[in-house]
Amino acid sequence: MINVNLPSNSYEIAIASASLDQLGEQMSGLQLGKKVLLVSNPMIFKHYGEKAIASLKNAGFEVASYNLPPGERYKTFNSIQKLYDVALENRLERSSTMVALGGGVIGDMTGFAAATWLRGINVVQVPTTLLAMVDSAIGGKTGVNHPHGKNLIGAFHQPRRVLIDPEVLKTLPTREFRAGMAEVIKYGIIWDAELFTQLEASKHLDQLRYVKADLITNILTHSCQAKADVVAKDEKESGLRAILNYGHTIGHAVESLTGYRLLKHGEAVGIGMVAAGQIAVELGLWQKEDTERQNALIQKTGLPTKLPEGVDIEAIIAALQLDKKVKSGQVRFVLPTQIGAVTVTDQVPTDTIRQVLRGLH
Ligand SMILES: NC(=O)c1ccc[n+]([C@@H]2O[C@H](COP(=O)([O-])OP(=O)(O)OC[C@H]3O[C@@H](n4cnc5c(N)ncnc54)[C@H](O)[C@@H]3O)[C@@H](O)[C@H]2O)c1
Ligand SMILES: [Zn+2]
Repeated sequence: MINVNLPSNSYEIAIASASLDQLGEQMSGLQLGKKVLLVSNPMIFKHYGEKAIASLKNAGFEVASYNLPPGERYKTFNSIQKLYDVALENRLERSSTMVALGGGVIGDMTGFAAATWLRGINVVQVPTTLLAMVDSAIGGKTGVNHPHGKNLIGAFHQPRRVLIDPEVLKTLPTREFRAGMAEVIKYGIIWDAELFTQLEASKHLDQLRYVKADLITNILTHSCQAKADVVAKDEKESGLRAILNYGHTIGHAVESLTGYRLLKHGEAVGIGMVAAGQIAVELGLWQKEDTERQNALIQKTGLPTKLPEGVDIEAIIAALQLDKKVKSGQVRFVLPTQIGAVTVTDQVPTDTIRQVLRGLH
């Protein structure tokens, strides 16, 4: 059990193989009302929906379920409206609970619906992608996209419990798993050197979920602990939480320039980490050998380490500037100083960025 320590709404992250069967039991201890709305998508529901519902019913909950269509494309206010309709039909009350069974898309939407229905009801996160397990299900950021920008609408709403069953990763496509591994590697660099060395020592990083239950559980535990530590120190993102954006400055620019279609988020973050690592070396902040270790790990996971063809370097620089204007400040980089520690700086010369990006072409 990992505790996310917050002033008024602490909660636990439970990580254990085959724990989906204990969902109802775990929720029984939280003093929740009887009514539960399970939110998923048809594919995930087909694999795990019945199991989750059976466990909830066994524990005495009254369960309704609803499947939203799959994909980031449906992470819209329209889907939230659907959830409100279902909440109304099923007469969800202040004490009721929404359970998100899915990846980050389902988790963000269910969290947002729960944050706003009746000014806030309970939400329990049951993440089914690696990214959702180590990142989006923890920390309380919820929301949907606006036609003109990602995650523009949202709220902070912490879950009452996060239940992680590594077994569900067995059905996750390899590309999704690898993309999640980018965030895992991120935690190794920004926070947890032990996690980093453990990843270095593991072969077949993208196959872990099939072969070694102990190892994947351990890696999940370290990653979730890293996120929990950072969130506990900075719940509403006023300072420290910025370090979670390691690899995301250039990552986001590349994602948006390729229309959010070519690359998975984690793939863009992988490229962004390679770039940030090299920038740190150029600025004399980080050892060259450590960047090489980082890059070897990204490569071993099967993630890209070069910019996709056709992405123009000046376009990336322009996208960074645009982002800076939006945030009314400087372009902010999270840069490693050693494995397990980073610093945040807005003093990176544009020429250094340009030079490093040239090396990634
Ligand atoms: N709230 C936060 O702090 C936070 C942080 C990072 C990302 N996010 C958000 O998370 C979203 C991305 O999440 P994601 O990467 O989990 O993608 P996703 O939710 O779209 O899931 C990826 C795909 O995997 C499928 N899938 C999920 N679990 C499966 C399983 N166990 N077996 C087989 N298939 C499965 C889904 O149906 C989907 O097609 C983005 O919208 C992003 O903005 C939020
Ligand atoms: Zn990310």
